[in-house]
Amino acid sequence: MYQEIDLDSIQLNMEPPTGEPARQYYFMAKCREWVRDFMRNKGRAPRACVVNMGCQMNARDSEKLRGILKNTGFEEADTEDTDFVLYNTCTVRENANNKVYGRLGYVSSIKKQNPDMVIALCGCMMQEPEVVEKLKKSYRFVDLVFGTHNIYKFAELFVQAVSSDHMVVDVWKETDTIVEELPVERKYSFKSGVNIMFGCNNFCSYCIVPYVRGRERSRDPKDIIREIEKLVADGVVEVMLLGQNVNSYGKNLETPMTFAELLRQVDQIEDLKRIRFMTSHPKDLSDDLIKVMAESKKICPHLHLPLQSGSSRILREMNRRYDKEHYLKLVEKLRAAVPDIAITTDIIVGFPGETEEDFEETLDVVRRVEYDSAFTFIYSKRTGTPAAQMEDQVPQDVVKDRFERLLALVQEIAARKAEGLTGSVQEVLVEQVNDHDETLVTGRLGNNSVVHLPGSKDMIGCMVPVRLTECRGFYYMGEVVS
Ligand code: 5AD
Ligand code: SF4
Repeated sequence: MYQEIDLDSIQLNMEPPTGEPARQYYFMAKCREWVRDFMRNKGRAPRACVVNMGCQMNARDSEKLRGILKNTGFEEADTEDTDFVLYNTCTVRENANNKVYGRLGYVSSIKKQNPDMVIALCGCMMQEPEVVEKLKKSYRFVDLVFGTHNIYKFAELFVQAVSSDHMVVDVWKETDTIVEELPVERKYSFKSGVNIMFGCNNFCSYCIVPYVRGRERSRDPKDIIREIEKLVADGVVEVMLLGQNVNSYGKNLETPMTFAELLRQVDQIEDLKRIRFMTSHPKDLSDDLIKVMAESKKICPHLHLPLQSGSSRILREMNRRYDKEHYLKLVEKLRAAVPDIAITTDIIVGFPGETEEDFEETLDVVRRVEYDSAFTFIYSKRTGTPAAQMEDQVPQDVVKDRFERLLALVQEIAARKAEGLTGSVQEVLVEQVNDHDETLVTGRLGNNSVVHLPGSKDMIGCMVPVRLTECRGFYYMGEVVS
């Protein structure tokens, strides 16, 4: 499930190479030396726990970090009470940050019992200078802090941290470097995320992502295709193309290309069965993309299309660069081209200045689009974003009331929509043995809905035709049809 790099042939008595990825292979070999010392001292391999706290991009980064750890000889631990713990953080909302401080409180007590424990933090929250200051001041037991731009340097930073008696901090503001060919430890053998671009140029006024993930950089299409071909040769049947705004893929490449063109190339890869992608910005969703979705048999009939608000006035304040009418028109075009498409979304409630009328506009879009599911968020003020300076922050009790009304509507519509597929036969990719009942397996439809059906673990990774016998709100029960 990961490509092993031959670290034992690397000469460690020489200076580290300056080019990448050779330099990181060198430091991975150094890490392996540390691992061997640990084994000599303790009579067992060190264990590492990578805790993923964010979105799919973050989860993919964690797989890369786990790949490096596995290659150097760490065993995976499933609790934070272990030899090495690495928190891959998120900062999109304030409560994501609070969660991290909570976890740090917990591991500091473990480290008191086990002073050799190594604690590291990386990811989006580390890109905020105030966070790093706070860590330096009040969380001095942390050994290593790095950001989103240099995760490829993890092996080098780990070696630095274990050779130093104080906190090592390496956070970059920006980068244009994309290092290919590092090991990855995938969570699933049959499906994988694939980064196609990094960063974001949109600057929605509430959002901290452009500040923590930097400017948009697209990967070379040849590297993307090569990576997917390798994954498919290794048993992957489904890929999720990842980027903060996949619809603007390719604009900054030496030879620019569009996301729709990239999808056409990915579609050609033999034995790849399903293609998903995340996340789409409505302002950049092209007619050509809709066309390729309609033509392809592999692209799943599912689109996550964040609305954020249904009020054109609020959308302007959010700097989203589309309005309600444009959004509804897109949905109409999508449904005309791909009739069975599932549309999901993100919505923020309580953006500064949101009135009852604005909120009603959001409810109106939800009723008209009939989302298959929606992530609903209470607006969270992020320091450094333009919205944080806006007056007219909506009172908490008003926000809470709106949030509950929105959630009730979203759930009622989602349940009604799901009911519509009951009785039909659909292709299901079986993903795992059911968490609660060993006689069942759990899989997903092309539209991303979850299905439980009688089966066994040898079905994992297989596509099977399933009759959806019963809809239970947000998931189905089904049975294989032969
Ligand atoms: N407050 C609340 N939700 C936010 N999101 C992004 N920034 C904020 C914020 N400041 C939501 C958006 C985005 C999703 C990933 O998180 O809906 O689409
Ligand atoms: Fe993902 Fe954004 Fe959270 Fe970073 S801040 S983990 S990019 S959601």
